[in-house]
Formats: sequence, structure tokens, C-alpha cells
Amino acid sequence: MQEEMKQTIEHKIIASNFKTNHTRKSTGDFIENINSFLDEEDIKNEVYIFPTATSLDNFDTVKNLEVGVQNAYFVQNGSFTGEIGTQQLDEFEIKTILIGHSERRHILGETQKEISLKYNFYKSLGYKIIYCIGEPLEVKEAGLTETLGYIWEQFDGIDLNYENLILAYEPVWAIGTGVVAKIEDIAKIHRKIKKKINKPLLYGGSVKVDNIAEVLSVPNVDGTLIGTASWDIDNFKKMIKITKEK
Ligand code: 13P
Repeated sequence: MQEEMKQTIEHKIIASNFKTNHTRKSTGDFIENINSFLDEEDIKNEVYIFPTATSLDNFDTVKNLEVGVQNAYFVQNGSFTGEIGTQQLDEFEIKTILIGHSERRHILGETQKEISLKYNFYKSLGYKIIYCIGEPLEVKEAGLTETLGYIWEQFDGIDLNYENLILAYEPVWAIGTGVVAKIEDIAKIHRKIKKKINKPLLYGGSVKVDNIAEVLSVPNVDGTLIGTASWDIDNFKKMIKITKEK
């Protein structure tokens, strides 16, 4: 019975988070290029690209390439200076959102309460949500129990049975630092999360051309969420190809 209920992933997932990089023009070129690449190479993996909000457009993409947003507020529209809502997302038929990214939690000060409000709002609209979790260095150094405790708190107010949910484990200390978590650390945390939550689970944090194959070989890693190394189109294509072969 348990086996039957297990969500199986046919192909590994690969996602690029542009963060605060690329312009409207270079984003358009990038997406067009990746789109042709997926088509020509007959790549079936789910590929996600999260450009800046100012670079959103009506992209014409193959069905396994999805363009999402890195953030949006939990409203249709209103007075929330600097934010965008679903009125702006609907213009471009965006139906995918990153929620809970560590940079939003730790640099921009989003609380778990705000994150859960955002999650529930976008869930109610059927968005695909890539929900990010991960511990800062001092928590990792405090030990496994503390690390898991910290991660479980990041699920407060989050419906883990939501059908359009993908999780991304991104240890904060491994993001943009060049420090990839040790393979055994990724394996350990992914096993613990998967045991509790039966959803696709990506790994993120300094994934690059040289280590993506190894990361994808770790049990319970269903794909990757990549920042820095994915902003270069040739590197991203190389990583998509490696993902295809896994
Ligand atoms: P880097 O790949 O630059 O470490 O960033 C990972 C990340 O935060 C993706 O969301």
C-alpha cells in the first residue's frame, strides 16, 4: 500500500533561479534558446526558469519548460508598494512560484507566518509551488536534531498534501558560497524529509556542471534548484543534458 502511494518521478527536475540577474532582453533570449534546445534534444525532464519580475513576458514554450516567479504578494492587486500580485502574473499566464527561499527569509525578513499566508493563497489558486527550506550554518553546526527541528518549523502552516507542491532543500550555508553540502549530508537530510513528506524533493546550493551528476545520484534527490551556475546559458544546457542522462 505504502509503495502504491509513493509519488514516483519519471524524470529528474531542473530549475534555474535567476535571482537579481539578467535583463528583459537577455532573459527572452535565454528562454528561447533553452526552449529550442529541449525540443531539438528531445529532453523530457521538467525544466523551470525563474526570471526577475521585470523580465516576465508571454513566452511560447514547450510543455516541459515552465517559467515561474521568484516571488509575489498574496493578493490579486492593491496597495503594496514594490510587490506584484496575480493581476500582473495573469497577464503572462504565470502559474508557478518559488516560496520560502532563504534569501527572502534571511535577507528580506519574510516570517514563517507571511510565508504560510503566501503559500495558502497561491495554493488556493492552484499554482505549482516550489517551497524552499534549509538551515543556516549555526544550526547545522548545532547538530542533526537541531537541523531537523529547524526544517520542520519551516513547514508550519504549510499543507504538505498539496498536489502541486515541489520541495527544495537548500542549506543556507551552501547557497552562493561555492560550498556544496557533502554527499552524505544531502543523503541524510533528504532521507529524513522524504520519510515524512512524499513529494518531489530538489537539492540546491552551489550546484554546478562539475557536481550535478554526483548530486543527482544521491538517493531521494529528485532534481536540482540552481542559482549562479545556471545564469550562463551554456552551463545551464550542460546541466540539463546531464540531468537527462540521470
Ligand atoms: P547557488 O546555486 O548560487 O548556490 O544558489 C542556489 C539557490 O539559492 C537556488 O535557489
